Amino acid sequence: MTNIVPMCEEHIDALAELEKVCFSQPWSREALAEELENDSAYFFVAETDGKVAGYVGFIITAGQSYITNVAVLPKYRRSGVATMLLERLFDIAEGYGLEFISLEVRPTNAAAISLYSSLGFEEIGLRKNFYRNPTEDALIMTRFFA
Ligand SMILES: CC(C)(COP(=O)(O)OP(=O)(O)OC[C@H]1O[C@@H](n2cnc3c(N)ncnc32)[C@H](O)[C@@H]1OP(=O)(O)O)[C@@H](O)C(=O)NCCC(=O)NCCS
Repeated sequence: MTNIVPMCEEHIDALAELEKVCFSQPWSREALAEELENDSAYFFVAETDGKVAGYVGFIITAGQSYITNVAVLPKYRRSGVATMLLERLFDIAEGYGLEFISLEVRPTNAAAISLYSSLGFEEIGLRKNFYRNPTEDALIMTRFFA
């Protein structure tokens, strides 16, 4: 069974490990811990049978929100974990009356693009040379709320 809970101090070590498994430029333990002190940050963790399976984070500033992190450990993928996490963010966005949520994704990340498209995100632009290791443009995807 999977529960979505707010990120807390107890999750940080597991999330730092998850970042290393999922990304070529992982967020550090310190970067994750800083978000616990950030009043503009909303981070949620998916716990499957009590273990960290994935997480999502977004920042709300000046009425706009940006997803900064989405990742699920390989053994828990394709079972709806990322969808549950993102739907939690949609609830918050709608609660705040936000007009949209935006994010960046590598154009080569077919899994993530497919996930975001399935949840109503649209491709709205490109940021040149946004990523490193390897260098790549970023696709900007946005989910609008009515
Ligand atoms: C992208 C990622 C977060 C998806 O997590 P997930 O929990 O497996 O996603 P879900 O199970 O909720 O998938 C929902 C839908 O997204 C699409 N999708 C997800 N992974 C996919 C894949 N590998 N290939 C094609 N479509 C995929 C499918 O439409 C899927 O629905 P389905 O399983 O019924 O076909 C996960 O693969 C991951 O952590 N990747 C590495 C980190 C990363 O790239 N993060 C995004 C950075 S922008």
